[in-house]
Amino acid sequence: MRVNRLSDALGAEVVGIDVSDPATYDFDAVHRAWLAHQVLVFRDQSLAPEDHIAFSRRFGDLEVHLSADHLHPEHSEILLVSTRQENGRYIGAVSAGDYWHSDLSCQRLPTSASLLYALEMPDVGGDTEWADMYAAYETLPAATKARIADLKGVHTFNRMRNPRVHVPEVHNDDAKMRYGERSPDDAIHPIIRTHPETGRKALYVSERFTIGIEGMDDSEAQPLLDELIAHQKRPELIYHHKWTVGDLVIWDNRCTIHYACRGFAPGAIRHLHRTSVIGDVPY
Ligand code: OGA
Ligand code: MN
Repeated sequence: MRVNRLSDALGAEVVGIDVSDPATYDFDAVHRAWLAHQVLVFRDQSLAPEDHIAFSRRFGDLEVHLSADHLHPEHSEILLVSTRQENGRYIGAVSAGDYWHSDLSCQRLPTSASLLYALEMPDVGGDTEWADMYAAYETLPAATKARIADLKGVHTFNRMRNPRVHVPEVHNDDAKMRYGERSPDDAIHPIIRTHPETGRKALYVSERFTIGIEGMDDSEAQPLLDELIAHQKRPELIYHHKWTVGDLVIWDNRCTIHYACRGFAPGAIRHLHRTSVIGDVPY
């Protein structure tokens, strides 16, 4: 197994293993590389849903995603991230990642690892970006670090309560049900979280999910969130991934945020399978 860095910020490709065949790798070495590089890319993989699920389970227990109408019909552990339509409805999450976020930070137990596998890609566009939240924290001005040290962010799934995001056009009709009734309760998480495995501190807010700061008036909280959100997506923190069919990308949501760049033609098919590993309560 070889590990090659992919950017000055974060991300590495792992060469020389077949994810569907545990005999070709040492999981501890993969896990160490993942903690070190935050995002790992495995190219040319040929993964049946069972292979994808089995490998994902090595990272922890899997979550059945709350977007119940976007699950793989035979494997509920797999969320379809897809632009495909069948019988006039989208079979998968079309708008996944349209704003920077850390997966399911809106839950009490957010996702630790996400594993996304590309089955079909448009010729142009459909890239994804990841940003390093260790470096985001470390490069904050000292005064800001001190100011946010004990603050907690309020995270919500409900897009209608977040002025920084839009409801995607495809969900105009079912927005109330999707983002209202079905939203879990808000989650309250420290704005600076400590990674439970590396012990390092990471900035833990995002424009998709963080709508306020616990106990702080919006007149003060919103400008502070604006500052943190602008800081966390600076170009020097980012790895930009151009997908090829057969890529499996694994990222650590406890120390990264990510963004779907889109930019493909209307009607183009972009189809991926995703699993989510249940993480711990952030501290
Ligand atoms: C996700 C996600 C981004 C993309 O699957 O969690 O945000 O580019 N995907 O598909
Ligand atoms: Mn995501």
